[in-house]
This record gives sequence, structure tokens and C-alpha cells, in this order.
Amino acid sequence: MQETLGIKDPIRKSTLGSVARRGVDTSHGPILYLDDISVSFDGFKALDALSLTVDAGELRCIIGPNGAGKTTMMDVITGKTKPDSGTVFFGQTIDLSRMNEPQIASAGIGRKFQKPTVFENHTVFENLELAMQYDKRVWVSLFAKRKRSQIKKITETMEIIDLVNQAGRLAGLLSHGQKQWLEIGMLLMQEPKLLLLDEPVAGMTDDETAKTAKLFKSLAGERSLVVVEHDMEFVAEIASTVTVLHEGAVLAEGRMEDVQSNDRVIEVYLGR
Ligand SMILES: Nc1ncnc2c1ncn2[C@@H]1O[C@H](COP(=O)(O)OP(=O)(O)OP(=O)(O)O)[C@@H](O)[C@H]1O
Ligand SMILES: [Mg+2]
Repeated sequence: MQETLGIKDPIRKSTLGSVARRGVDTSHGPILYLDDISVSFDGFKALDALSLTVDAGELRCIIGPNGAGKTTMMDVITGKTKPDSGTVFFGQTIDLSRMNEPQIASAGIGRKFQKPTVFENHTVFENLELAMQYDKRVWVSLFAKRKRSQIKKITETMEIIDLVNQAGRLAGLLSHGQKQWLEIGMLLMQEPKLLLLDEPVAGMTDDETAKTAKLFKSLAGERSLVVVEHDMEFVAEIASTVTVLHEGAVLAEGRMEDVQSNDRVIEVYLGR
């Protein structure tokens, strides 16, 4: 078990990452690289020199006690919170700390918050269609061609999130789990390279949680996923590498089995 990665060079790959990338094209190296990030709120250090690397195609889980800084870390990646110090790289060349929220989103980072924010008075199909309209590449093509390719893409997305048979249903009538999947579908319409998901299975039934695990595993590889979750069964099911945050820094990182048997992790989080 490695306590921290301590990597200073974004080009270098972590050994843990290479284990996690089994079967995935690894030629792209890290997709996300946080180096020495600190964030303070009124003197309280929410992130304390946090360094973290996620490789392309990875499905990384982030766990840790309440207040550990997990959401703050996502806020920093998406540009919602500017760090007091440190750098965030997306891929090997894009410096996210120089970009604002919309620029970061259009660079290919999609974020899902805990509460679903679908348009309740629109159908599943319409929700996905609305999510697509921000895709600039679609607007440059001819209308008829656009329409056909749009429908194809929406249908493919509904297949991925298993809502094809709910296409004409108002989103407000979906179950909590279905709303979450619809929101993930809306993110997918933007073709993100990196998806950030904060407590995606909170409030889901066991069946919905199991289906979400399958969905995430299918999304990884082509995309990279960073998932924050308190549901340890879910984390054990999906994660190749687990990062434990505590007091704004990495306490431990590695395979779920190793993290679960780490004394410090048990003490600050799992054992409570
Ligand atoms: N905007 C803010 N202003 C002041 N304090 C904040 C702000 N955002 C977060 N914090 C504080 O920073 C710390 C880290 O919060 P954060 O939300 O990142 O934790 P978390 O790991 O996501 O916890 P949880 O598991 O409960 O979601 C907490 O002590 C929180 O109160
Ligand atoms: Mg949080």
C-alpha cells in the first residue's frame, strides 16, 4: 500500500494506476493531475496540499469521512472553487486553474451533483435533446443531417442508461434511480472525457445501485470516472483503485482490499 503518490511530474504514470488500467489503452497517461492543492475557508484547510493522479480510462473511487474535502476537490477540478495554491492539469497540457467553469466543462469534464437536476416537465427524450443543444459541433452541420444524427445519439444514450422504454415519459414521473441515470445520460450527451460523480447511489434501492455499478463499469475505459461514495459495497464492486481522503489530503490509496485493512483508514473512517 502506498500512503501517497507524491508524484511531481504529470507525465510519469503511477504504478497503482497501471494496475487499475488493466485492459484499457494506457498510451494516454494521466487524464487528471492535482498537485499540491490547498483550499482554505476562513482559515480552515479543506484541502491541504492534496496531490492525486487519475489515469485515462480509470474508474477511481474517492472515499473518506464527512468533511474530508471530497466535494471541495471536485469543486476545484470543475473551477467552482479556485485553489489558494497548487495546480490542476487535465490531460498533460490543459491547465484547469487558468480556466473558468464553462471552459472546463467544454474541455470535456462533466459533473454530476448528488441531487438530480432533470427537467421534470419534459420527457426523457427531450431532456437528452436539451442537453445536446450545447454541443457546438452539432449546430454547424446541416439541419436534416443534424436531426438524424441527434436522434441516433439520443437513442444510443437511452440504451446506455436503460431508459429506452421510458423515452416519452415525463422525467418527473421517473424513480429516483432513473432520474439519476437520466442526468448521467444528459452528461454523456456532451461527450465528456472525464466524469465526476458525487455520491451517485445515495438514496437508490439495492437494485438501482447494482445497475449503476454495471453502468459505471461500462462507461469506464472510453471515459474516465471519478466517483465519490460512502456506500462501501458499491465502491468494492466498481473500483480498481480507491483513494482515501482525510483532512484534505490523501491518507491511503490502492486496491479496495488493501485500503480496507489499513489501520489508519479503519481508525478515521471505516471503523466508525
Ligand atoms: N464554501 C464553503 N465555505 C466554508 N466551508 C466550506 C465550504 N465548502 C466546504 N467547506 C468545509 O470544508 C470541509 C470539507 O468539505 P467537503 O464538502 O469538501 O467534504 P466532503 O468530503 O465532501 O464531505 P461529505 O462526505 O460530508 O460530503 C468541511 O469542513 C466543510 O464544512
Ligand atoms: Mg461531499
